[in-house]
Amino acid sequence: MNLQNQIDLTNVPQHIAIIMDGNGRWAKKQGQERLYGHSFGVDSVRAALTACKNIGVKYTTMYAFSTENWSRPQDEVEGLMNLLVYTIANEVNELNAQNVKLLSIGNTIGLPEDCQNELYNAIESTKNNTGIHLVIALNYSSRWEITEAVKELAEQVKNGSLNLSDLTPELISQTLSTRNIPDPELLIRTSGEHRLSNFLLWQAAYSEFHFTSVLWPDFREDDLYKAVLDYQSRERRFGMVSEQL
Ligand code: IPE
Ligand code: IPE
Ligand code: MG
Repeated sequence: MNLQNQIDLTNVPQHIAIIMDGNGRWAKKQGQERLYGHSFGVDSVRAALTACKNIGVKYTTMYAFSTENWSRPQDEVEGLMNLLVYTIANEVNELNAQNVKLLSIGNTIGLPEDCQNELYNAIESTKNNTGIHLVIALNYSSRWEITEAVKELAEQVKNGSLNLSDLTPELISQTLSTRNIPDPELLIRTSGEHRLSNFLLWQAAYSEFHFTSVLWPDFREDDLYKAVLDYQSRERRFGMVSEQL
């Protein structure tokens, strides 16, 4: 039974957000260090991206490093940053070959300089691509992002360029780092955890959640298709009742 063929291509989410979780537990199961799991997680990113592309998803946001992840042991943080630098540098040709446009959200200026350089290079190099947008959330947290937006808007009110009465949910959306990116209709978290961990709190207001026990390094195309099929089985009511839809 081919899962991809079961997907209704007229009802595919425009934007799928993914909390990639379970690398450490996956490595432990193999009797390996946590970083071993992180490096295998890169194959899963490729698989998820390919699956999204295959069914016509326009945006996928992947949570790669949270502001809270700095609290991990120093060798893990360093290993993750090195992996990021290496992976971004290594994948940029492939991203271009696949017409992928890379974007990032999060406090990127807080990343090590080599990581920033590779990231900005890759974003610049893929900026004219017209296919799927791959948004990586790096040194990201929703509360950080919302706080930054509040500061920016407060400053505008203070200097008189914004009236308080013009402060709307739409304006707040347009002030977040996800401005111009539609809200995710579907949010996936792997590894059996059921929480947002400070990810897209504002943008996920009406997202459908799909939780799977699959550990991120095991995640493949079919797992993405399963999530989309689950999404397609939901009735999205947006506060209304069934009969109104
Ligand atoms: C997700 O896997 C990757 C990052 C948070 C960077 P984890 O490293 O959180 O793996 P577990 O949850 O400990 O298994
Ligand atoms: C969330 O995963 C962050 C990323 C996937 C990058 P964590 O594994 O860090 O989340 P918690 O701490 O268990 O909630
Ligand atoms: Mg985790």
